[in-house]
Amino acid sequence: MSADPDPSAQHGPRHVAIIMDGNGRWAQARGRPRLFGHHAGAKRVRDVVQACPELGIKYLTIFAFSTENWKRTQVEVAGLMSLFRRYIAKETKDLFSEGIRVHFIGDRDRLDPKLVELMRGLEEMTRDNDLVHLTIALNYGSRDEVARATKLLARDVARGELDPEDVDEETLTRYLDTRVLPDPDLVIRTSGEARISNFLLWQSAYAEYEFVDTLWPDFTPDELARLCRNYGSRDRRFGAVRA
Ligand code: IPE
Ligand code: IPE
Ligand code: MG
Repeated sequence: MSADPDPSAQHGPRHVAIIMDGNGRWAQARGRPRLFGHHAGAKRVRDVVQACPELGIKYLTIFAFSTENWKRTQVEVAGLMSLFRRYIAKETKDLFSEGIRVHFIGDRDRLDPKLVELMRGLEEMTRDNDLVHLTIALNYGSRDEVARATKLLARDVARGELDPEDVDEETLTRYLDTRVLPDPDLVIRTSGEARISNFLLWQSAYAEYEFVDTLWPDFTPDELARLCRNYGSRDRRFGAVRA
């Protein structure tokens, strides 16, 4: 492992991960049901994705539904699942023609097979795109991801395909849902909450963080650009001391 600080901060983040929070409060402030806020939030995603190339963002990862979000009311969960289905069906063609490659992370086993099929179709259709890699975290939780990765790793050990003596950080990384992604450089959370809520814990060990008060449906490409500029002025030392 290199001890040299990565100078990439000077050039803007290559991988931005966003905890899109505040949809419910945004709707509540307008006297509307929470789902109204989720629909408004889904509409913001397109602008943000489109802003990525100009900002030098090659990887954008967004938190859409956590493994803990099942605790919400049945009405909200069902509404969100229906929103995901409609969103994918509606956006697939445009995402494809705009050069976006889409990838999903999270446990698909608990999701409706129709939704899983739409997710697979979108991944398949955009697999040769390379302008921006959009990763959508759906039924994603970092602890759940590490547990599932550990199960797969243990299976390979049991089969004699992996020697426990060879297991290191790099090995575990290969079993995670995010195995094809670089680590996030910048993690943004909207809505004023300063917590991570089980998002990319392993992958963000050395990420820079930004917590902003803006509720997700009000988040704009201008604000993203500002946060990218802030990132550019930070000194990422990765535990080393700058000479
Ligand atoms: C984020 O907005 C979207 C999801 C978690 C699905 P919230 O629904 O958490 O909005 P608040 O935090 O209640 O305002
Ligand atoms: C995190 O937001 C999950 C997503 C944005 C999908 P939550 O609103 O679920 O997180 P908590 O409950 O405030 O920690
Ligand atoms: Mg929330």
